[in-house]
Amino acid sequence: MLSEEHYTLRRIQADDYELGALKVLQTLTTVGEISKQEFTTLINQWDTVKISNGLHYIYNTIVIIDKSINEIVAIGSILIEEKLIHKCGLVGHIEDISVLENQQGKKLGLNLINELIKIGKSIGVYKIILDCDEKNVKFYEKCGLSTCGIEMNIRF
Ligand code: ACO
Repeated sequence: MLSEEHYTLRRIQADDYELGALKVLQTLTTVGEISKQEFTTLINQWDTVKISNGLHYIYNTIVIIDKSINEIVAIGSILIEEKLIHKCGLVGHIEDISVLENQQGKKLGLNLINELIKIGKSIGVYKIILDCDEKNVKFYEKCGLSTCGIEMNIRF
């Protein structure tokens, strides 16, 4: 369990630019220059998509904030895909999981994944999937996931 005394876990907000949302994602990959305006527009757009589709959530990004420094130290998303198969079933895709380097090993990643799984289940997904590097397999196994299939991609 995440210590509520030390951390806040909540959905991302349009004003999280200042709290270092993009800095945490740089632990994962290249983020590039994103202005505050671009950030805010995108987060607000996610909210609009959510409402216009009539689903509770389409794209849900959550953050963990270290209260002592008032900064985002972990971030992750679950995208809900509406399919035709499985009677118009819902699938959750966990994406862009990142914990600030100096905060790793404190179970923040585990708490993040647990929360994303909880969100997916509450929406009614029949499965949750993700792609990751070999080096992260053990971590995701500790979070309750298991290896299935082979990841493939084509990059542009
Ligand atoms: N190898 C083996 N075990 C691991 C690893 C690893 N790489 N990472 C964590 N674990 C284990 C921990 O030891 C712990 O085990 P325990 O319960 O037996 O003590 C358990 O997994 C939970 O670890 P956390 O402390 O919650 O892990 P952390 O907060 O450090 O987050 C994460 C792990 C997200 C992989 C972090 O290291 C990170 O952000 N890495 C850089 C970015 C990245 O690779 N993100 C994942 C991309 S994949 C995707 O987005 C779908």
